[in-house]
Amino acid sequence: MGQLILAIDQGTTSSRAIIFNAQGQPETVVQTEFKQYFPQDGWVEHDGEEIWSSTLDVCRQVLKKAGLQAQDISAIGITNQRETTLLWDAESGELLYHAIVWQDRRTADFCHALKQAGHEPMVTERTGLIIDPYFSGTKLRWLLDNVEGARDRAQAGKLRFGTVDSFLLWRLTGGKVHRTDASNASRTLMFNIHTQQWDADILALLDIPASLLPEVMDCAADFGHTDANLLGASIPVAGMAGDQQAALIGQACFEPGMVKSTYGTGCFMVMNTGNVPVTSRNRLLTTVGYRIQGKTTYALEGSIFVAGAAVQWLRDGLKLIQHAGETEAMAEETGDQCGVYLVPAFTGLGAPYWDPKARGAIFGLTRDTGIAEIVTAGLQSVCFQTRDLLDAMTADGANSTAALRVDGGMVVNNWVIQALSNILGVPVDRPRVTETTALGVAYLAGLQIGLYQNLEEIAEHWQCERAFTPAMPEAKRNELYRGWLDAIRRVRD
Ligand code: G3P
Repeated sequence: MGQLILAIDQGTTSSRAIIFNAQGQPETVVQTEFKQYFPQDGWVEHDGEEIWSSTLDVCRQVLKKAGLQAQDISAIGITNQRETTLLWDAESGELLYHAIVWQDRRTADFCHALKQAGHEPMVTERTGLIIDPYFSGTKLRWLLDNVEGARDRAQAGKLRFGTVDSFLLWRLTGGKVHRTDASNASRTLMFNIHTQQWDADILALLDIPASLLPEVMDCAADFGHTDANLLGASIPVAGMAGDQQAALIGQACFEPGMVKSTYGTGCFMVMNTGNVPVTSRNRLLTTVGYRIQGKTTYALEGSIFVAGAAVQWLRDGLKLIQHAGETEAMAEETGDQCGVYLVPAFTGLGAPYWDPKARGAIFGLTRDTGIAEIVTAGLQSVCFQTRDLLDAMTADGANSTAALRVDGGMVVNNWVIQALSNILGVPVDRPRVTETTALGVAYLAGLQIGLYQNLEEIAEHWQCERAFTPAMPEAKRNELYRGWLDAIRRVRD
């Protein structure tokens, strides 16, 4: 049978479990969606218990579906929606509040005050991030300030903070292990990416007790063993990375300058910058790409909050479509010049604008605008937002002629990927295995248990399924993009 790795991919809208063979091929997949809570404008929450129960459930189901026992699995890798913030009791494991999701903007005013007080340069210099509600630090501070008794219990050392990776590890190990990895830590706003340690000055600034924080490990490491009662046998957890960094690994972007873009709920473009933490002059983030054997590889990241979620909104919010799969034919019919622009700034704008107060809008409606035009504009918004990121990276000195490697749920849509290549004016490669997030963490776990010797061996597994090349005159591409920039300007007025 060969060695098998179980990858857990706990994302923003679904929990997935995938069994990979040693060649990096997904053998069995189980996925389940879970509930999103929107208690107020700009607030987004998940029930942490549902995060846990859905994760455990897909792990059990995937073993059953594959006809395997827990002892057939050599190791587990965990990858996750990043920044989402949980707080729980160290004794009972009970959560104090819902998970505050990365998209949540409730700390916008606090972030604004921190910036006004002049703290951003120091925070950016140390964490590589900007001060924005996106990251975990101010969310954790909000929990300590707003959940009754939380601050006292935190000060007494009775609580634990974690992003989803740490929370799942804690639960999987039966409450024994409180750890994270450097890629997830680098998204908290509390981690110094140069020293690779929690930053005492930032903790003091945010008033966060250090006892809350997990131990930070390499991405391939002995994180702990699962409680045998959960899956039927104890399995080592050997790999961990935030989902976008895991996708960078799954896409084998191991050389400086290589870029991938993942289209899940949001869209995240990440470029490997090698052992140099490049500082962006265009509001991109500097982050830990991965840390292996104590060696940190850095990355430059552009994060946009709504990509696939725009299609989800067209389906569930507006009920214009029944399935995401319908959008490809609709857009083909409409073409790329429908004149409608949909700006999906439902929770503000991410990179490179970082405007938490902006909100969504649709422009250019005429009497003959119909469902197909609005749907097409939703798909195009993903391409335009990617161009925002690529332009910022190019302005930061990146080589824009390299093919962009894409993955995530949306890339099955050929129209979107061709439109993307057209709007960017660069080639776009879609790999054979598009489960790159889960694959990346399976590779990390495989590396730790000796299934792979090094990253070069892993890179040999990457195969292109289809290469898309730009097929739009430059003048047209720029004209369409100008319309987008105008729409962006209007949602920020
Ligand atoms: O930073 C948030 C990101 O990790 C969420 O990813 O795939 O759940 O949209 P995804």
